[in-house]
Amino acid sequence: MGDRLHFQQGDIHQLTLSEPADLIAMNRALHHVWEKDTASLFAWLHANLKPGGLVAIWEPAWPADRTALRDPSRRGMAFQNLSEHIQGNHFLQPAEIQTAFEQAGMDAKTYTFMQGNEAVIIARRPTH
Ligand SMILES: C[S@@+](CC[C@H](N)C(=O)[O-])C[C@H]1O[C@@H](n2cnc3c(N)ncnc32)[C@H](O)[C@@H]1O
Repeated sequence: MGDRLHFQQGDIHQLTLSEPADLIAMNRALHHVWEKDTASLFAWLHANLKPGGLVAIWEPAWPADRTALRDPSRRGMAFQNLSEHIQGNHFLQPAEIQTAFEQAGMDAKTYTFMQGNEAVIIARRPTH
């Protein structure tokens, strides 16, 4: 795929892509860049995709109901969120990610796995 893939490195808040992307994949990175200006970030994702292009987000799925954190399968996520707060971040609920895409004019669908503790959100820039 060497002739079809290329990589650019930079701060997403400053980055200008050389051309619109077919796919933007962010693996456990969205919660690092969410706080600064969420609306601008999602406008950036929309603007830097080709029409019909996709964003794939993989994030820990922070539960809407905090009592769910008492489940043994969520203890690791609960503990890690403490260190995220120290860095100025926090884990996100899949629904808030999906809503942010919809507010940016993109269709989004959420898929959860690992007992609901991991979420992949796929969003598409409309073709029109
Ligand atoms: C938890 S790591 C995930 C790394 C990798 N995607 C993985 O799954 O192993 C979070 C990543 O977000 C990146 N990141 C944080 N702030 C960023 C920013 N402003 N622009 C671009 N990337 C950023 C960090 O460099 C780091 O690689």
